[in-house]
Amino acid sequence: MKIVRARDYDDMSRKVANIISAQVILKPDCVLGLATGSTPIGAYKQLAEWNHKGDCDFSQVSTYNLDEYRGLSHDDPQSYHYFMKTNFFDHVNIDQSRTHVPDGSNPDADAACKEYDRIVAEAGYPDLQLLGIGNNGHIGFNEPDDHFSKGTHCVDLTESTIQANSRLFDRIEDVPRQAYTMGVQTIMFAKMIVIAANGPAKAQAVYDMCYGPVTPKCPASILQLHDNVVVVADEAALALCPKE
Ligand code: PGA
Repeated sequence: MKIVRARDYDDMSRKVANIISAQVILKPDCVLGLATGSTPIGAYKQLAEWNHKGDCDFSQVSTYNLDEYRGLSHDDPQSYHYFMKTNFFDHVNIDQSRTHVPDGSNPDADAACKEYDRIVAEAGYPDLQLLGIGNNGHIGFNEPDDHFSKGTHCVDLTESTIQANSRLFDRIEDVPRQAYTMGVQTIMFAKMIVIAANGPAKAQAVYDMCYGPVTPKCPASILQLHDNVVVVADEAALALCPKE
């Protein structure tokens, strides 16, 4: 794994945006795997700025997001689809028909997940997959478990994830208890993975991901087995890692 040290959140965001921008410049019709959460917002803003300047053209790019809350429709303001629109898609020249998020409004979990796997496979899997990491080492909504997941599936969110995500809801009771998420195996099919982390709450998870045993107890640790992973993290998130 290549570790790129950033000074702070803004520096991390620019570095992540630079890597994504390079991917789009090198392959204008690339497939991007995208993530929600607080971590990538700065990178999305930076990419939108470069897009407006004419430096990064998303007109031929396709995107596949990692996950969506089960039970929320695409236009629900708490949905990840809505998050992507308001934080990224509405601010760049992407063809929105090429943007994909699992269909949280489909109550048939099996059908929703199978369909998502089908379209991600048909797209040939992401050229670049952007990830955040949970305080507990989750990637997408693949929570610590006794096995690594394969394709898209429905998960029960852990208490720690519900707690962490409740900051975006009025009340903790409003946080959905389930989500559809790409599986770990699907994430590993991406040709390149960029995982971003900032802040002291991520320090243990980042250390476990990079230096701990490869175990489903820390889902992100599987990334040690991928041959093209870049970790972009700020000093606080790297506090427990050796300075190489
Ligand atoms: P965050 O979430 O970016 O909001 O910290 C990351 C994650 O849970 O994957």
